[in-house]
Amino acid sequence: MKHPIRTLGCALALSAAAFTSTFAQAHGNVTPQGVDTRGLPVLGDKWRDENPYRGNAMAQKIGASAYNQNCARCHGLEAVSGGIAPDLRQMDRDCVGLKNAAKKTACFKEMDNYYLTSVRQGKVRNGAVYMPPFEGVFNQEAMWAIKTYLETRRETN
Ligand code: HEC
Repeated sequence: MKHPIRTLGCALALSAAAFTSTFAQAHGNVTPQGVDTRGLPVLGDKWRDENPYRGNAMAQKIGASAYNQNCARCHGLEAVSGGIAPDLRQMDRDCVGLKNAAKKTACFKEMDNYYLTSVRQGKVRNGAVYMPPFEGVFNQEAMWAIKTYLETRRETN
């Protein structure tokens, strides 16, 4: 399967590196905000390979707030990227139009996995932090709540 979005991420990496250092100087170290995920089904320690909250209204709400406090400064308010980091509305848009149900399911699952890995590990290459890792900062519930929110922002045209 092709990964047009990943290619996009790499193309933006250089400008992102410049941005990140400027940002750090301008704003100091911004501590990620903890996310209150009470009320969501508890997921435990085992990492899921698919979004368990897809379509869950409470997850969308918690995810929207968590996104705007922790991700928007790079990925844009309401997930509309200003070009500094990838536009997350486009992340799994190619899956939406797939006609074959099995392929569609597999596509979403693969993108869910890619999303989770990106958020847990961040994006660090050759010592440069393009995006900080969120593992240990957010619980799994918060990570999937943000994905659930992003799915409401998905661009499909
Ligand atoms: C300091 C800026 C910054 C913050 C904060 C940040 N990101 Fe990122 N993120 C980036 C950059 C830059 C990339 C592209 C990195 C690369 O591949 O070179 C990226 C890539 C990603 C990707 C992969 C997208 C793709 O199309 O390849 C996902 C998913 C992602 N970020 C989600 C998040 C989420 C969710 C949050 C908040 C919890 C977040 N990011 C916070 C800068 C940031």
